[in-house]
Amino acid sequence: MIRLLSRRFSEYLSMYRNSIENPEQFWSSAAKEIVWDKPFTTILDKSQEPLYSWFPDGKLNMCYNCVDRHVESGSGKDWAFIYDSPMTNKIVHYTYKELLEEVQKLAGVLTFRHGVRKGDVVLIYMPLIPEAIVAMLACARIGAVHTVVFGGFASKELANRVVDSKPKLIITANVGLEPGKKIPYLPIVNEATQIAEKRGLQGADSIERLVFDRGFGVPVDLKLHRDYDYYEEMVMSRPFSSIVSVGSSHPLYFLHTSGTTGAPKGVLRDTGGYAVALKKVMDWVYGVGKRDVFFSASDIGWVVGHSCITYGPLLVGGTSVIYEGKPVGTPDSGAWWRVIQQHNVKSIFVAPTGLRAIKREDPLGKLMKSFDLSCLKHVGIAGERCDPDTVNWLTNNLKPDTLVNDHWWQTESGWPMISNFMRIEKFEVKPGSATKPVPGWNIKILRENGEECNSQESGVVCVKLPTPPGFMLTLWNNDEGFKEKYMKDFPGYYMAGDEGFCDEDGYFHIMGRTDDVINVAGHRISSGLIEEVISYHEDVAECAVIAVYEKIKGEMPVALVVLKEGHDVLSKHVEQEVFQKVRQDIGNIATLKKCVTVKRLPKTRSGKVLRGTLRKIAQAQEFEVPSTIDDPVILDEVKDSMKECGLCVPVDLEFGSEPSRTN
Ligand code: COA
Ligand code: AMP
Repeated sequence: MIRLLSRRFSEYLSMYRNSIENPEQFWSSAAKEIVWDKPFTTILDKSQEPLYSWFPDGKLNMCYNCVDRHVESGSGKDWAFIYDSPMTNKIVHYTYKELLEEVQKLAGVLTFRHGVRKGDVVLIYMPLIPEAIVAMLACARIGAVHTVVFGGFASKELANRVVDSKPKLIITANVGLEPGKKIPYLPIVNEATQIAEKRGLQGADSIERLVFDRGFGVPVDLKLHRDYDYYEEMVMSRPFSSIVSVGSSHPLYFLHTSGTTGAPKGVLRDTGGYAVALKKVMDWVYGVGKRDVFFSASDIGWVVGHSCITYGPLLVGGTSVIYEGKPVGTPDSGAWWRVIQQHNVKSIFVAPTGLRAIKREDPLGKLMKSFDLSCLKHVGIAGERCDPDTVNWLTNNLKPDTLVNDHWWQTESGWPMISNFMRIEKFEVKPGSATKPVPGWNIKILRENGEECNSQESGVVCVKLPTPPGFMLTLWNNDEGFKEKYMKDFPGYYMAGDEGFCDEDGYFHIMGRTDDVINVAGHRISSGLIEEVISYHEDVAECAVIAVYEKIKGEMPVALVVLKEGHDVLSKHVEQEVFQKVRQDIGNIATLKKCVTVKRLPKTRSGKVLRGTLRKIAQAQEFEVPSTIDDPVILDEVKDSMKECGLCVPVDLEFGSEPSRTN
């Protein structure tokens, strides 16, 4: 049995049990830490089950709780942000007072100059710079709903999100900076709105844009009466110094994420429940409080960026590091450790892929040890399961009092569901496990028939309803899709889409997705989306995209392409074009590992592509020929084609066992 480091085990257990057995009492007590403009009288409204509403009649403002509140209580001189950008050689500190002024000015621009009102959608497509965070907070201040699109997505993906969100305004910048290249954003935005217009969103190309000009020699070509210069607008407007008080369930934001199909799903987050839960979790999990520095090495395009760069650290009056750089190459693999030492970082969030990139360059941790990391008490790792080797490497190179915490969460959850804890209880680390359920999450591992699994038996990871505050409200404009996707397969539970098991010590191990979502470097991408893009190629008859293991990125997509009659001779040429098309339409983060031309795709008799079997073949793993297969000969054909492309070599499955993906 695992020995517990602390004697306060019962504290976790009693707190956890209380959160599950008396959720309303538990969360109403937590809600006292938030400033409510109108106190709630109802704690949980279950009338629309499985859509829940926490603190439904309470009113508040998220921006007030994150910014004004600290200035009013005398902490205006504390640092809210440190913008550390090796890409521009800049380090800039922002106090809470300065942040408030910027947010008020931008909120004024949105309201007085562009008529953005409570409930309107504002799409933010920006690099990781302070103005992006100011934009999120300005929306929250006036009750507008923001939807951030990751700057690494290209025009077609952006177009999908424009069509779904129908924004009143787009806030963007002229350029994003990647090592060795500049990404001009305006042409991408313009192309995206043109695509959206063609897809039937009338007026998409006329949506107003507010453009933050960073310079760097990238011209800003503004179209009259549509595109507006951020600086000029800030000068011309008056500040919006009040706040718009919103109902607890008023949407703060929605964030698109990938599912099984190509269409992105807008995960909708409330205001009150999220504020309450996030404030607690900053303390429980990350150990971050007033004036503590939190460095989340992610991007605001992901849920982690929303919770751990923007809202979480600010809710507790901490300091958030906005890092515009990479784990390696900006300038070297010591970049993250330099940030920690220089800014006295107490807690950090990282994705395993970043750690693996550093480990590859600094396997003995020499560079890491050249920095004084004594300030660092917690390393939160998520985005995918962290392979035990990387957990051990990190643990061995850090001080013994730094908690290395592989913790599990999702866009849908908004905050960690399974984790170790800085505050409630520090459990002994089991590499490969995400540790214990966080208070509020009644995690169950279920068999397909809905029965609970025994320990060590792998099953589908689910959450027993009701879900805690801050969990997604629903899908943007799609309640039925929400019920169908998440709530249907296991009535009474939220189905998370992951497979895992709980061991005899009560430690949970999350092994990977059960659906066709591919997790590339912590970026969640649907195989259906890549297939959709490839299918548009004029020479392609059909295709299938599978995930294969990759040492640094965790997984990468491989495309299997069947060409139309008469195109076989062109296959190499088409493969190159397909490769480029995926980068161009979706973004470079979706880069294919391989594109393989095959004669036919193996399918079941009902026509379903056997992706699970293909994945096993690509990784030279043993597999059983599915009994439902239409023509088993195709498996050998595909294997030969894969071999020619350098696939079918055994992979080092150090990342863990295989989740049973859909076949
Ligand atoms: N804008 C434009 N392009 C971008 C981009 C951005 N914001 N971010 C990445 N890209 C491009 C890169 O330049 C690269 O292009 P290339 O193929 O031409 O070289 C490509 O996309 C692949 O990027 P990625 O796989 O992300 O590698 P990276 O070296 O750029 O970044 C990490 C490494 C670790 C910083 C990054 O992968 C990361 O942050 N991952 C974690 C994501 C996360 O936080 N997930 C949380 C989920 S809970
Ligand atoms: P996203 O919604 O983009 O944050 O991706 C969430 C998905 O990432 C989860 O469903 C998991 O598949 C995976 N994931 C995130 N963190 C972990 C973790 N610590 N262990 C295992 N898988 C993880």
